[in-house]
Amino acid sequence: MQTAPLPDFPAGFRWGVSTSAYQIEGAARADGRGPSIWDTFAHSPGRVVDGSNGDVACDHYHRYAEDIALMAGLGVTAYRFSVAWPRVLPTGTGAVNPPGLDFYERLVDGLLEQGIDPVATLFHWDLPQPVQDAGGWLNRDTAHRFAEYADLVAARLGDRVKLWITLNEPFIHMSLGHGTGEHAPGAALLFDAFPVAHHQLLGHGLAVAALRARCGAPVAIANNYSPVRPVGTDPADLAAAAGYEALHNRLFTDPLLGRGYPTELGFDESVVRDGDLDVIAAPLDVLGVNYYNPTGVRAPEEGSPLPFELVPLDGYPRTAFDWPVAPDGLRELLDWLHRRYGPDLPPIQITESGCAYDDTPDAEGRVPDPDRIAYLDGHLRAVHAAMADGVDVTGYFVWSLLDNWEWAEGFTKRFGLVHVDFATGARTPKSSYSWLREAIAAARREPPR
Ligand code: FCB
Repeated sequence: MQTAPLPDFPAGFRWGVSTSAYQIEGAARADGRGPSIWDTFAHSPGRVVDGSNGDVACDHYHRYAEDIALMAGLGVTAYRFSVAWPRVLPTGTGAVNPPGLDFYERLVDGLLEQGIDPVATLFHWDLPQPVQDAGGWLNRDTAHRFAEYADLVAARLGDRVKLWITLNEPFIHMSLGHGTGEHAPGAALLFDAFPVAHHQLLGHGLAVAALRARCGAPVAIANNYSPVRPVGTDPADLAAAAGYEALHNRLFTDPLLGRGYPTELGFDESVVRDGDLDVIAAPLDVLGVNYYNPTGVRAPEEGSPLPFELVPLDGYPRTAFDWPVAPDGLRELLDWLHRRYGPDLPPIQITESGCAYDDTPDAEGRVPDPDRIAYLDGHLRAVHAAMADGVDVTGYFVWSLLDNWEWAEGFTKRFGLVHVDFATGARTPKSSYSWLREAIAAARREPPR
């Protein structure tokens, strides 16, 4: 599919792809890896739509060299992956599992050989099961265990990782993992899940200090954001939308950027101790922004346990996940972050942006995905427009390099630039891969590789 050339991005803008450990690695029991909450959850009947799990996933643990070659062919300058805590520390604490760290060292060195910056996320939801058994993120101790784990990964890789991301989407881990129970560990605590927010943030702050003590690489967190659109004009709808906005977009970012927790949510904050908010507000080098779609919100039905109801937004094209395709939402979000946090806002990198479609190889074995090309084109233009509005955005990572195991959706949602045949592991670049290769080459003012 032909698109008009993208506007110019600055030299040095980071072009990346993003993945996470449990979604691609497989090798769930190889080389001493311990179980995570996602192993437990996925192996519990009824939790994942197609009954699948991440035991094999994309087998990236064994095929990482092929995947690095795919990234090199794409011309990306960075790769955001996650380190599986249970691969490094099978019981979550105590003795290191050397083959686990060796794997990430091979990966990091392989990336550097291709001139690709390793960007490492330390927690992308795969908490070691023994840490969960001790209370997980409801237990304050987990914050300390996380910082110890961050420290030992940095001790090994701190001289080569170019950007650390402490947590991936603490809001989603709290809300789906501990609020509604749709994700691991499957707790349905609704608003009583607040300690999970606080302890993740505390773990983030402690990990920032540990990383800074070990190495000079910049540190970030990757938050999920969604511009909130009230559905309905009734004051109750507007109030519900404002409440959801505070929950989704500000609960984590306000304390990270020194503003404390939004008070209007009425959380019981008794787990917050003196000094915690200072730890959490440690300066960030980069704010990671994961953006997929805006959210429609209206007042709840009477008797609802929640003070809002999430509703589909009309008038947008939709992905296979039924998410609205709204690049304008990304510009709106970036402008809002810039306005709200002003000089406290660090430079932003879009650490995830992408879409799922039902991509299938055609008779010639090609995988045309024009909808993904349109998606990426629109979202890159939105980033550029926000930059022209004055927002400091220094990178964009596509979710995802590969079709992978999409949590509770199992293998039913394909987000990759590269198609994966889950029966054989065979990788086939889609047409969006070729499109992005050209776009990156043009932006880097180099011929495509
Ligand atoms: C994000 C997650 C990522 C992936 C995408 C589609 O919320 O961080 O792992 O599942 O959604």
